[in-house]
Amino acid sequence: MRILVSDPIASEGVDILKEEFQVDVKTGLTEDELVYIIEDYDALIVRSSTKVTKRIIENANRLKVIGRAGVGVDNIDVEAATFKGILVVNAPEGNTIAAAEHTMAMMLSLSRKIPQATMSLKRGHWDKKAFMGVEVKGKTLGIIGLGRIGREVGKRARAFHMNVISYDPYISQENIHKDEIKMVDLDTLLRNSDFITLHAPLTSSTNHIIGEKEFKILKKGVRIINCARGGLIDENALYNSIIEGRVAGASLDVFEKEPATNNKLLKLDQVIATPHLGASTEEAQINVSIDIANDVIRALNNKTVRNAVNMMSIKPEEWAKIHHYVLLAEKLGKFYSQFRDGRVRRIEMGYSGGITELNTSILTASALKGLLNVILQEPVNLVNALVVTKERKIEIVETKKRDVEDYSNLITLKVISDNYECLVGGTVFGKNDQRIVMINKYKIDLIPEGNIILISHRDKPGMIGSVGTILGRNDINIATMQVGRMSPRGEAIMALTVDEYVNPQIIKEIADTEGIEEVKFIVF
Ligand code: NAD
Ligand code: MLT
Repeated sequence: MRILVSDPIASEGVDILKEEFQVDVKTGLTEDELVYIIEDYDALIVRSSTKVTKRIIENANRLKVIGRAGVGVDNIDVEAATFKGILVVNAPEGNTIAAAEHTMAMMLSLSRKIPQATMSLKRGHWDKKAFMGVEVKGKTLGIIGLGRIGREVGKRARAFHMNVISYDPYISQENIHKDEIKMVDLDTLLRNSDFITLHAPLTSSTNHIIGEKEFKILKKGVRIINCARGGLIDENALYNSIIEGRVAGASLDVFEKEPATNNKLLKLDQVIATPHLGASTEEAQINVSIDIANDVIRALNNKTVRNAVNMMSIKPEEWAKIHHYVLLAEKLGKFYSQFRDGRVRRIEMGYSGGITELNTSILTASALKGLLNVILQEPVNLVNALVVTKERKIEIVETKKRDVEDYSNLITLKVISDNYECLVGGTVFGKNDQRIVMINKYKIDLIPEGNIILISHRDKPGMIGSVGTILGRNDINIATMQVGRMSPRGEAIMALTVDEYVNPQIIKEIADTEGIEEVKFIVF
């Protein structure tokens, strides 16, 4: 398998990748160049320079995983990747401390005008009056976004004796000690902070979270630090607020458009800036490079990854418990698609017993994968199974029942299509013994492996013999046989596992036998 690394990452990660795969490091590629070469690769690793656009993704026919050596995935079209079934992974932890320390450096440099004073002294001026600063002690710091970096900044600001308040709609005060950081609404934060630092991701709802309207209510003389993403602040509104004297200064590591060499904010004395250096420490770059290399290798080896962006992450301990159910769910889906046809309208996944405590959404995705892969041209996997199903306007319902009846764990897949309503259920005996235990109203005990001939027939003497004779005549060896019936001489099904592939003529011959209603050949 081949991996393309299209932005510079620390050599430690590249070396790990090279132990298992062929790696090409090609940086500075244009979109056109990437579109042209991407179909040769199974994995792509980027930092923030490469923009992984829809066009690139549409041509990435071999690509299984995109790895982002860092946190922000705003340079990757995650939606397009998801539709194409490409896993996106990131390395969110390795640069947290680097970004938090950079934020503190930017805040202190801003409050003491260190960059401006440095430049002045280097030009030969000993000007003590021009660079009067302010202390941070006793001032209020407002943190927008209290995730990994926001919290580390909060701790460090407390050490500087600042009052720390924060706005984060997804974090409640119960999880944060109120004597350390007080959670407030955005309006309160904007009106009361002497310093504001941003640590939220850039999304459609955080874009310009400090925009023209917000700049009007900020406390006069506020200083703003942005080491997260440029789009969080409306740069025009910031520029005007600094000119009008409402904002005392800004310290920016990130910009709406990068590289930001022509940004008008850089012309203002009150603005200090770095070229997106938040994660640029030796330690952070080694961390993210190793983290992303390991996750990309896991993804290419079909193992569970640590930091999935577009798929539910699952801990290795949980994966060990659920793994055989994931395989079983896929087989239930695969069984259905070969057993019945017609436009599917609704899929009902039922879970009972101990598995209800595990991550059943991965089981549902697996059943959908099994079901759709038989029907669709485009590859369906655990990443895109849900979106592909919803795109086809198929309703999906999950029900869970802790109580058990006949099996300690049971997965049922009920499909309502234009032509049929069909139910198939399975369980795992012991650690890994997968079985299909129900097909519609019949109870059965079928190992979902190999080639299976499924026959609906009347229960009467000679049926098994007739089928056996046809198979024997065609040199098809029967491995196992299961029969389920509603009542003696009533409706019944016969499931035969056979060693060979059975061609459609033989299936037709069986179907034409007197007393046989329907025959399906199912391959797992
Ligand atoms: P994180 O996911 O741990 O934290 C983000 C926090 O933002 C979460 O707590 C989330 O609840 C919160 N949030 C989401 N929507 C919000 C909203 N509308 N208002 C307020 N808060 C909201 O991420 P992190 O690792 O702390 O990274 C934070 C940011 O820093 C990201 O944008 C990341 O890309 C950026 N970053 C920049 C650099 C750099 O080099 N400058 C380095 C690392 C990270
Ligand atoms: C990130 O999101 O991790 C940062 O922007 C760091 C980077 O990769 O430059």
